[in-house]
Amino acid sequence: MKDAFAQSAPITLESAMRSQAIALSYSKNEKDELVVEGPIKLVSAIEKHFELILLDELSFFSPSGKAGELFEIPVSATDCETERIFLVGLGDKSLGSIRLAAAAVGRKVRGKSIKVFSACTDGVDELHAFAVSLTLGTYLWNLKSDKDIKYPELFIATNDQETLDDAVVIAKAICTARDLVHTPANIKNPAWLAQEATTLGKEFGFEVKVLSGKELAEFGGLRAVGNSSPKPGPRFVELSYLPRTSKKNVNALEHVVLVGKGITFDTGGVSLKRPYDTMIAMKSDMAGAAAILATVSAIAQLQPKVRVTALMMLAENALSGTSQRPSDVITHFGGTTVEVINTDAEGRLVLADGLAYADKNLDPDYLVDIATLTGSATLGLGRQYAAMYTRDNKLAKELVSIGEESGDKVWHMPLIDDYQDALVSDIADFNHTADKGKYSAGSVTAALFLEKFVGERRWVHLDIAGTARSEVDAGENPKGGTGYGVRLLTDWIMSL
Ligand code: BES
Ligand code: ZN
Ligand code: ZN
Repeated sequence: MKDAFAQSAPITLESAMRSQAIALSYSKNEKDELVVEGPIKLVSAIEKHFELILLDELSFFSPSGKAGELFEIPVSATDCETERIFLVGLGDKSLGSIRLAAAAVGRKVRGKSIKVFSACTDGVDELHAFAVSLTLGTYLWNLKSDKDIKYPELFIATNDQETLDDAVVIAKAICTARDLVHTPANIKNPAWLAQEATTLGKEFGFEVKVLSGKELAEFGGLRAVGNSSPKPGPRFVELSYLPRTSKKNVNALEHVVLVGKGITFDTGGVSLKRPYDTMIAMKSDMAGAAAILATVSAIAQLQPKVRVTALMMLAENALSGTSQRPSDVITHFGGTTVEVINTDAEGRLVLADGLAYADKNLDPDYLVDIATLTGSATLGLGRQYAAMYTRDNKLAKELVSIGEESGDKVWHMPLIDDYQDALVSDIADFNHTADKGKYSAGSVTAALFLEKFVGERRWVHLDIAGTARSEVDAGENPKGGTGYGVRLLTDWIMSL
């Protein structure tokens, strides 16, 4: 994805006239009357220039006023490029509604090489949400050989350059995560993803350390999964961000450690994924790792006064002669032994090494993992909310509210101690699929398994199996990778 990132434009008629499309917005007031929003002077100048009254044009459609409802009014006048005005509904004008409205405008112009001038919202948070979602709506990705992808040029009428710049950083980061998820697994093996991380580290100024081969001796989970695909084999990537100028010394800064599941393709291994067509979506099983890489890229540009380390656990879960077997016992980083039951539950095995490494070596104040971990998370919550597990209720509340505001929504799920005995193994410290007892709470028991590796840390687990990928091409999301988690993690880190 290139260049469809919003730029600021003067709030004047002349500036609007340079675009093929002008986007304005409307809502309904308490009396249920339609109101055209936007800077009054600009709106009346536009009306005068095109000799129309927008409210009358709008009434013709009998709009409901709901967020994202969009009408198109063809216009023409001399001395200007403008061919149409979009009127988009702002609903209740909440940030969620503004996001829907912006995505609707973005989607309308997606794939068209036209200029779009929008004057739909003001207010700092509203402008931020609008700019991000406008960009997300225009997102396109494909590897078609026959034609170049066209992108619209997006202009937003504002004087608030700083808010727009921050929004562009976030939007770009989300698109980076999406691009990585969309890339097929024959291209993005673990070595390729590690290289992408190195490239982004150079571009944005954070450190990238890559471990492979013998350097992974202690990472028993990562090796057990990743050696199923020995060429090139698994990678452990550590990204480190430190603020450029900090009066505090490094140890005085709060330290956030992120751990991401980076399975570049999940066949299930010997416990082959069934039904087989569920496998097709599994190039997106690295969305957690993509989200933390994109988050660190955004953070390195926004420069908060915190320390952030991100661990990308990169492996392919293939079916081959070097695949692990159901009944194998592996030794994780730090020495915990685990009996492997179902090789399709590979995510928790690679995460366990990352969490244990963080606990032992990084002294995190916050330890957060993010993973497309279980089908059960999707069964429970659908595709709009990620399943969030943590024993820290205060932190959970903060993340819930940042989720609502940013659009990356989370639901606080319980770590149910009554289910702990599901993890008992006769021959190792734990079994990893929680198959003792019949609790059938796959997302909960996966979280309980991960908790065994976090020591006493303040820990949050985000199961994004439902949210990382969209099955439909609509609204903010393309069919495929959504970039879920980048906004949640970035906004949360910025709030610390
Ligand atoms: N990558 C899958 C989880 C998944 C499923 C993500 C659907 C996105 C969409 C994970 O590795 C997996 O296969 N989990 C199993 C665990 C089970 C075998 C205990 C699952 O959820 O079925
Ligand atoms: Zn799996
Ligand atoms: Zn998986």
